[in-house]
Amino acid sequence: MDTQLILSEVRGTAALKTAVLTLNRPKQLNALNDTLMDELGQALDRLDRDDTIGCIVITGSEKAFAAGADIAAMASWTYMDVYKSDYITRNWETLKRVRKPVIAAVAGYALGGGCELAMMCDFIIAADSARFGQPEIKLGVIPGAGGTQRLPRAISKAKAMDLVLTARMMDAAEAERAGLVSRVVPADKLLEEAFAAADAICGYSLPSLMAAKECVNRAFEAPLNEGMLFERRAFHALFGTEDQKEGMDAFVNKRKPEFRQR
Ligand code: HXC
Repeated sequence: MDTQLILSEVRGTAALKTAVLTLNRPKQLNALNDTLMDELGQALDRLDRDDTIGCIVITGSEKAFAAGADIAAMASWTYMDVYKSDYITRNWETLKRVRKPVIAAVAGYALGGGCELAMMCDFIIAADSARFGQPEIKLGVIPGAGGTQRLPRAISKAKAMDLVLTARMMDAAEAERAGLVSRVVPADKLLEEAFAAADAICGYSLPSLMAAKECVNRAFEAPLNEGMLFERRAFHALFGTEDQKEGMDAFVNKRKPEFRQR
């Protein structure tokens, strides 16, 4: 049987569970080839439709989250190959479509497409061993899945230009200072911390989690007044849920809420 390039596991004891997707090409530092990206896209689609899943964690190995798109696979591609087949990038939109929270738990290298994949997740928890970069310029190309777009929005134009034009890597501490990652944890605690965050998320109401994610993402795609209106409408809409009644009643009566995801 072929090796699975994405390992999938479900964990947690709450009503909503966490799905853990592990990139599994450790010898190639999780270089992203088409098979891996196809498997990732299929897994994400399946988990987003699964009502028992509240949060998804994407992680790699100790040495690499992902060292980028597979250079050996790309080396002989022509323009027509990439244009017609939309190699590698065709599944990236799947990750963008996922409506549930997605956490990237990053140890080691997150370079090129690996950095872009992490940035497409909702937030990044980094091990102190993590190193981020967009070194495509060394290969005679440029980032192709958001490195020139999401990175400047996340860490400023100056820092993004620095990384994209010089190909230097940023360590975890610099990535945290720059706002690329939400927190840095000791490498041997990475999954523990990511699962704790995922468990917290899984304790809340999925409709409000999905609305919160939609609204935060809107902040990058709409002018402020449109984003504010979108947020207000989503806020109003949540008063139509049973979970709003449950959450507020539980607070008022000093008890733990039991959300029913509706
Ligand atoms: C294919 C890769 C790879 C990659 C590493 N490997 N990165 N294979 N594509 N992106 C393979 C190596 O060939 C090697 O295979 C094995 O993984 C271990 O890597 P080493 O280089 O021996 O490890 P080390 O010396 O520790 O150096 C680690 C590294 C280096 C600094 C991360 O591997 C590196 O620079 N990799 C390339 C990073 C990069 O340029 N990424 C951007 C790719 S372009 P063997 O068989 O020799 O053991 C891109 C475009 C995205 O991402 C476009 C949108 C999707």
